[in-house]
Amino acid sequence: MRKYEDLKRIHENVMPPRAHYIPYDTLEKALRGEREDSAYYRLLNGEWDFRYFARDLDCPAEITDWEKVQVPSCWQTTGYERPYYTNVNYPYPVDPPYVPDDNPLGVYRKRIAVTDGEAGRENYLVFEGVAPCLELFVNGAYVGYSTVSHSTSEFRVDLKAGENEILVKVYKWCVSSYLEDQDFFRNNGIFRDVYLLSRPKGHVFDLNIGFDAKGVYYDGTYQVFDAQGKETDLKNPVLWNAEQPYLYTVVVEQAGEFIPVRVGLRDQSVSEKGELLINGVSVKLKGVNHHDTHERNGYVLTLEEMRKELLVMKELNINAIRTSHYPPQPAFIALCDELGFYVVDEADIETHGFGNRTPEWGYDADTIWPTRNAEWEEAFVDRAARLYERDKNNTCVVMFSLGNESNCGDNFAAMSRYIKDREGQREGMGRLVHYENAYCNRAGEKDPDFVDVVSRMYWTPDKMAQYHAQTGDKRPMFLCEYSHAMGNGPGDLADYWEVMERNSYMIGGCIWEWADHVAPDENGNLGYGGDFGEETHDGNFCCDGLVFSDRSLKAGSLEAKAVYQPMAAFWEEGLLTVENKNDFRNLDEYDFFWEVTADGEVSASGSLNLEAPGHGKVTVPLALAVPESSYGSYLRISMREKDGREAAFSQIELSGAKAPEAGRGSAKITEQGEYALIEGKDFTYRFNLHYGQLETMNDYLKSPVRLTVWKAPTDNERNVKNQWYDENYNKVHTKVYEYKIEGNKITLKASLAPVSRSPFFRYEASYTFFEDGRVDVEIDGNFDQKRTFLPRLGFEFRTAQKDFTYFGHGPCEAYADMRHGSWMGMFESSAEKEYVPYKKPQEHGSHYNTKYLRLGAYSFVSGQGFSANVSEYATEELASKAHDYELVKDEFTNVRIDYKVSGIGSASCGPQLMDRYRMNDGKVHFAFSIVAEK
Ligand code: GAL
Ligand code: MG
Repeated sequence: MRKYEDLKRIHENVMPPRAHYIPYDTLEKALRGEREDSAYYRLLNGEWDFRYFARDLDCPAEITDWEKVQVPSCWQTTGYERPYYTNVNYPYPVDPPYVPDDNPLGVYRKRIAVTDGEAGRENYLVFEGVAPCLELFVNGAYVGYSTVSHSTSEFRVDLKAGENEILVKVYKWCVSSYLEDQDFFRNNGIFRDVYLLSRPKGHVFDLNIGFDAKGVYYDGTYQVFDAQGKETDLKNPVLWNAEQPYLYTVVVEQAGEFIPVRVGLRDQSVSEKGELLINGVSVKLKGVNHHDTHERNGYVLTLEEMRKELLVMKELNINAIRTSHYPPQPAFIALCDELGFYVVDEADIETHGFGNRTPEWGYDADTIWPTRNAEWEEAFVDRAARLYERDKNNTCVVMFSLGNESNCGDNFAAMSRYIKDREGQREGMGRLVHYENAYCNRAGEKDPDFVDVVSRMYWTPDKMAQYHAQTGDKRPMFLCEYSHAMGNGPGDLADYWEVMERNSYMIGGCIWEWADHVAPDENGNLGYGGDFGEETHDGNFCCDGLVFSDRSLKAGSLEAKAVYQPMAAFWEEGLLTVENKNDFRNLDEYDFFWEVTADGEVSASGSLNLEAPGHGKVTVPLALAVPESSYGSYLRISMREKDGREAAFSQIELSGAKAPEAGRGSAKITEQGEYALIEGKDFTYRFNLHYGQLETMNDYLKSPVRLTVWKAPTDNERNVKNQWYDENYNKVHTKVYEYKIEGNKITLKASLAPVSRSPFFRYEASYTFFEDGRVDVEIDGNFDQKRTFLPRLGFEFRTAQKDFTYFGHGPCEAYADMRHGSWMGMFESSAEKEYVPYKKPQEHGSHYNTKYLRLGAYSFVSGQGFSANVSEYATEELASKAHDYELVKDEFTNVRIDYKVSGIGSASCGPQLMDRYRMNDGKVHFAFSIVAEK
C-alpha cells in the first residue's frame, strides 16, 4: 500500500476544523473587513514555481528546472493535463483503497520573506481548496498532509525571519478520491486561496457564535456593530432573511486580534404542517444547485465572478442555493449572507460510481460502499466536521447536507450525529440535516430519523404528495434536484410550482443546475465530455445549466425567473388584484406599471402605488377600455425594483385574436401537367398537384412548403429521440392519394408515413387562392395515437428573407410548457437573432401562440395561433452537429409555421414530458392564411 492509499492517513498535523474568519489588528480594519489590510494575514495567491510529473515516481529529490504557474488554478486549464469529464463512473478502476499506479504529481513552491515580527508569532498556512490532497513542506521539512478537496486544510508552521520556502506536493489520486465522485470535470491543483495567518500568541482558535431573532450568543466577551458600524446592544434588532439580508458584525477581541464575524439574526423552525419557518414565516425555497465552475479556469472562481453570478441569481428571483456537492469557498457563503440566499451547505462526499463497479448497476447493500464500511467512518465524519465547523456561524445556512449519491449506511448516520451534537451545543436556533440518499434500501419506508427533511431528486410533485400520504411523514419535503435544465429548457417549472404552492409540506427545491460546465480544447473552443480523449466520459451531460457557462441567460433562465417571481396579478371587471408572493418585502418597495396593448400598440398605461405585506394581496380599481384588435389585446402589469429592473410581470388577456377576415376575389387556377398555375393581381404561384405542395410564390419560396414532423431533438429529448429515430420520424414521405380543383380551391387527400412504416397521419388539405395573392391553408387530419408522440407537426419552407415581425410569445423563444418568461406582443427579430447557442445544437427559437408573422412580402396569420420558427440553420444541420462552433449557416432562412411543437419538459434527467405538452392530438385542425403584403 502506498501512503496516499492509507485510509488511516486522512490528515497529518492538520489543525482541527474551525469557523472561518480573518483576524485583524485593529477594530476599524475588522469592521471594514478588507482582509488584505490585516497585519496578520498575507494572501499567497499569485505566481508559484511549479513542476508537473506524470508519475510521482519521476519526481527527483531536488527539482532544479521550475516552471511558473498561477495559484489558484487547475492542471487541466493550465495545460498540464487535459480536462476530464465523467458523471457517475470513476475515471479509474474501483478498487478501494487503491488508486492507479501512475499517480501524477504537481509540486508547487513559493518563497516568502518573513519579518521578525511575523516569525515571532504563531503562523498558520491555510489552504481553502486543494484537489484532492496535499503534502506540505516548509524550509525542507515535512509539515503535514491533508485529504479533502473542497474544505479548508490549515497547518501550524514554524517560520524564520528572512526567506522561507513553502513546498506543496499535490498528488492526483489518493484514497479520498473515492469520496469525490461528483458529476463534474475532474480537476486537480491548488484551486482556491492560500494564505498565511501570522497570529499573536494566546489568540482564540475556534469561534462558535449562536444567533436567533433575539440576539447573538457567544461564550466570552464581544461587541456588536450594526450595518453602519455603530455599536449596538441589539435591543430592537433588524432581522435577516433572504429578501432583506441585514448583517451585524460581532467582534471578538483577544490577544491583540479583532475577529469580525458577520451575523444576521433570524429564527428557523419547522411547523406542524411541515413548513420551513424563517422568522415565523413559511418560506419556500426557490433554489438552484451551484457548482464552482468556470469556462476557462475550471474550479477557480474569483470573488467578483461569484458576486456577479449571485446577482444574476437574484435577478432570476432565486432565493436558495444548494452547494452541490461540496462546500463552496468561504467567500461564497459570506456572499450568500450578504446578498440573501438560503443555503443548503453540502459536505464533500459523493461515491456514486460504486453503483457502476459491476456491469449490473446497483445500489445493493454491501460493505464495499464506503458508507457501509466502518473503516471509512472517520473520513466521513471528518467531512461533516469540516463542513459544519467552517460555516456554523453563517446565517445563510438553513440545512447542512451530508453529501450526494453515496447510498446510505452508518457512516451517514455518524455524520448526522456529529452535526446534531454540535448544533445542539449552540445557543440560538438550529439548522436541519439533509441527505437525499438517506432513503436507500428502505424503499417504501419512511426516511431514517437522522435526516430532518425528506429529500428527493427529479420526483414529480405528485410522487412527493403520494409519499407523504402513504407514510404520514411529518417532515418537510424538498426536491434537492429537479427540473433538469439541460440545453433548451427546463420546461416544467410552472407545473412543479403549481403543486408546491398548494402543499404545505413541500418546502421547495433546487433546479439542477446553475451553469453549464465546459472546458477549452486545444483550439480554444469550449467543449464537453469526449472532446478531450477521456477514457470514459458522459458527453454533454455537464452542459445542463440554467444559464450558459458564461452566465448569460437563455429562455429557461427567464422561465425560472417568472415561476419564482414574487407577484401574481388578476384583473376582472375593473378590479386589479395583486398578490405579494414575497415572504417579507412589502409591495410598497416596488414601482408598478400597467399597460394595455392592442396588437402590440399601447392604448393606455399608468403607474400604481401598491401596499401589501409579504404573502398579502391588494385589490384596487383599474377601469380599462378593452381596445379593438386583430391579434389580441392584453394588460401587462410590471413590478419593478426602485432602480427600474423588472422583478416580475403578469400578462392578462383582455380579448383574443379574431379569425382573419374572409379572402375576397378569386385567383385563377389553370392545370398544367403536374402543376396548377395560380394567377391574380401581380402574382403567379405554382402548386404541385402530384406532391400536394405549394412550390413557388413569385420568387419568395426557395423550397416547397412541406408538411413535416421532424426537428433537431433537444437534450431533454435524449431518451424519446431514440423512439423517434426508431419510428423514422426523420425520414417521412408524403403520399398524395387524390386532388381536386374547384374554382379557386385545391383540395387533396394525403398522408405522412416514415420509411418502412405505415402512415401515421392521414389528412385532407385545402389551399384557397384569392386575387390579391392570399392563400388560405387548412388541414384536417388524424394522427395515429398508438405511435410515439410527434416532435412537431407543421409546415416548413425556405426563403431569402431574414428580418421579421411577429405577434406571439416573445421576445425569447417560447414553447407550450416554457413560455412564462415571455409574453404576447408584437416583436421584431431576424433569423440571426433567433439563434440560441446551446453547446450541443438542438431545436430552438419557436414562438408559441403566434397569430401573425410578417416575413418580407408575406404574412402568416391565424386566429388559432401557431408556433413560428425562423432560423438560419436547417434542421438536419442542427441535428447532426455536436458543438455550436461547428454549425454552418444555411444559404436561406428556414421558416416553420407549426400547428404544434412538443413541449420542452426536463426529461434529460427528470420525468417524461407531460401528456398535455406532447404533440399527440388524435384530431388535428389547422388553418392559417398567407397574406401578400403591399
Ligand atoms: C443527479 C446528481 C447530479 C447530476 C444530475 C444529472 O443525479 O446528483 O450531481 O449528476 O443528476 O445532471
Ligand atoms: Mg452523481
